[in-house]
Amino acid sequence: MQLYEKIPNNVNLSQNRRLQRALERWQPNYMKWWTEAGPADFQADDIYLRTAISVDAKGWANFDYVKMPDYKWGIFLATPEHDRRIPCGDVYGDRAWQEVPGEHRNALRRIIVTQGDTEPASVEQQRLLCNIAPSMYDCRNLFQVNVEEGRHLWAMVYLLHAHFGKDGREEAEELLERRSGDFDKPRILNTFNEPIEDWLSFYMFTMFTDRDGKYQLLALAESGFDPLSRTTRFMLTEEAHHMFVGETGIGRIVKRTCELMRGDKNEDARRQGGIDLATIQKYINFWYSTSVDLFGGEISSNAADYFASGLKGRAHETKKFEDHVAMHGTYELEVLGDGKIGTRSVPLRNAMNEVLRDAYIDDNQRGVDRWNLIIKDAEIDCMLRLPSRRFNRRMGVHSGHWFDPDGNPLSKEEWESRKDEWLPNAGDRAYIQQLMQPVLERGKMAHWIAAPPRGINGQPLDFEYVRRV
Ligand SMILES: [Fe+2]
Ligand SMILES: [Fe+2]
Repeated sequence: MQLYEKIPNNVNLSQNRRLQRALERWQPNYMKWWTEAGPADFQADDIYLRTAISVDAKGWANFDYVKMPDYKWGIFLATPEHDRRIPCGDVYGDRAWQEVPGEHRNALRRIIVTQGDTEPASVEQQRLLCNIAPSMYDCRNLFQVNVEEGRHLWAMVYLLHAHFGKDGREEAEELLERRSGDFDKPRILNTFNEPIEDWLSFYMFTMFTDRDGKYQLLALAESGFDPLSRTTRFMLTEEAHHMFVGETGIGRIVKRTCELMRGDKNEDARRQGGIDLATIQKYINFWYSTSVDLFGGEISSNAADYFASGLKGRAHETKKFEDHVAMHGTYELEVLGDGKIGTRSVPLRNAMNEVLRDAYIDDNQRGVDRWNLIIKDAEIDCMLRLPSRRFNRRMGVHSGHWFDPDGNPLSKEEWESRKDEWLPNAGDRAYIQQLMQPVLERGKMAHWIAAPPRGINGQPLDFEYVRRV
């Protein structure tokens, strides 16, 4: 079989010899990467997975048993929009580019490589989780996320191969050479070098870090470079499932925690073998703050350039904004000065990272509100919350300063003496780690997490989502 017959695609791969040749060389290295750095077990087993075989409603969610190395990683772009125009910046209203404009070649390559690097990185971070999955259902969801991140890597590599010639091919190889957490060749962004060693962290990652991915993709979906826009629009359909895994995963832990609290005379979930709400809050504080960092500096000339040149827009640029040039507006940024929080006016174009971060924060808040409803329904008097966006920052104007979760400034000494109240400490991590005992019998759940309300693709909860051979 020809390679292009094995790769489901809607980019006319069979007609494009040059692209075929590039992918023929890359694909064996991709498989080598998947075997080395992908899930540490279950590679020979049958997993009930969804595979995209086309972009229409019926074709993008085909469910069947596959062995992960046989997964059909395809190349799909959303259907082209007739006569699409650039939705933002100085070039607003110009015809969208089908080829890379020479003057934006380096910037676009950097954007694509940075996005592309996160996709395999998360697979590497999660590779040991399958051995401690809380249920067969969850194990399958982990693998679904992993193969789709693999497909997202294919999507970015397609752009590099199809539009960036030799240096694109070199970048595509390097995407397979870097490794999450590797001392010499780490992944580009820091958050993607943190190992994910327990399932509470996995759900936090898919809730908060994958959602950063969603907002980056939403900004790229507004790109004037049409192939990038179309690729990311299709990736967004898959990304929704990843955040579903995160939000409902934490929701199910919260539900179980509440049940265990109700069954304990001191409402002590840990004594009942569960994860207490205080620990859940600490994990939220950690993963949310590290994900908030991924949006980059609050005041950014890069962000201004990307917007001005039509490379990146705001999330839902066309639908949510009226002024797509954004030449004159300002953004009121809350920032520390003389020991107090004050505001500083920033030209809107320089604040584009912050505008995207705002949309991201609102989206997270809706998820936290849903968790709080679960707590309220259990008649427990407690609320989970997102910390201030200033809390625990390593990037941007708030880094190098110390804030409590309410965003009040602290001295370095106060921060040092109190940070264990707010972030997972060694004891918390050890407690979570010892809960991580695999549960892989059909329909069973680990003690610390509630069952989901329904199975995958209409299947019952005790369906054999992972069939060991
Ligand atoms: Fe992704
Ligand atoms: Fe994702």
